[in-house]
Amino acid sequence: MNNKPQARIRGIGSYLPQKILSNSDLEKLVDTTNEWIVTRTGMNERRIATKEECTSHMGAYAARAALEKAQVTAADIDMILVATMSPDYLCPNTAGLIQTQIGATRAAALDIQAACTGFLYGLSIAKALVESGTYKNVLVIASEKMSSFIDYTDRNTCVLFGDGASAAVVSDSGKGWFVDTVRLGADGELADLVIIPAGGARHPASQETVEKREHFFRMSGKEVFKHAVRRMEMAAKECLDATGLAADDIRWLVPHQANLRIIDAIAKQMNIPDEKVYKTVHKYGNTSASSVAIALDELLQEQQLNHDDHLLLVAFGGGLTWGAALLTQT
Ligand code: COA
Repeated sequence: MNNKPQARIRGIGSYLPQKILSNSDLEKLVDTTNEWIVTRTGMNERRIATKEECTSHMGAYAARAALEKAQVTAADIDMILVATMSPDYLCPNTAGLIQTQIGATRAAALDIQAACTGFLYGLSIAKALVESGTYKNVLVIASEKMSSFIDYTDRNTCVLFGDGASAAVVSDSGKGWFVDTVRLGADGELADLVIIPAGGARHPASQETVEKREHFFRMSGKEVFKHAVRRMEMAAKECLDATGLAADDIRWLVPHQANLRIIDAIAKQMNIPDEKVYKTVHKYGNTSASSVAIALDELLQEQQLNHDDHLLLVAFGGGLTWGAALLTQT
């Protein structure tokens, strides 16, 4: 008999700030229109954290919600993984800040930087830690305060992003969503396509970097778009091949919410009908690492799902990085 533990998501939680930034608010900040934003991105509004709501705070709120749903206490958590590209500080890590906020005193704490793919990278690490028998309960958190790094004078990027957090308790037992397969990829050759140029060791903060606005997020949108569709489709197909499932077997596709046109293109390439594709992009924009699990949390609250239903998660981000995960309800 095979006694190997099988990682499952026992509980999911998310947190979105109250404050809304609408397309008409953005029309007052940059040379854009509601019509352009809606037709090119599918976004109507996004949430923006207050000064007091930091990445760690939003992550802690989402984590508490996930723990409650999983019926696991903070003291039971062995490891906290935080996926973020907008940490409270470069040092210390955000995982440690959340560890103390939620009282997970036994937990080790580690940050992961894989931009918008961060939650799936975290899920893959959690699966490995649980299935190797190293840990029983791993808390995977994705939290982003992108508004701290967005240049609200740059219309190419400022319309796209919002703030928010999500979390999942990954355990070796209990009911939930079996993390069947995760497939990840990266291409560092294309690192320049999504970048915050200064503030790291290569270009430390200086008067010049501030004047050149190099501490803000920059993206070559058109290039990223092409890679996003191709890579997410590839990762999703790898996941299906690994499990012997077909696109028809998927109950819901839960994609990274970067752009409605990207989501529609992937669904079309995979022959997954629109009614099986879960979308939050219209109301939250791109919340980077946290977007996939925010959507997953809402989906699980809204829809009645059954034993053996399959969900396919796909994500793509700076790095470049990408990934897909197949979940099955236990
Ligand atoms: N309002 C009005 N016009 C805008 C605009 C805005 N907010 N942003 C860009 N434009 C303009 C551009 O300046 C350009 O004008 P030009 O032709 O005079 O130079 C024109 O619109 C077309 O820009 P383009 O970049 O070709 O638009 P697009 O259709 O590719 O859409 C994105 C731009 C960013 C929405 C799209 O490329 C995208 O979603 N990319 C992927 C993002 C992503 O996946 N991110 C995930 C990783 S973080």
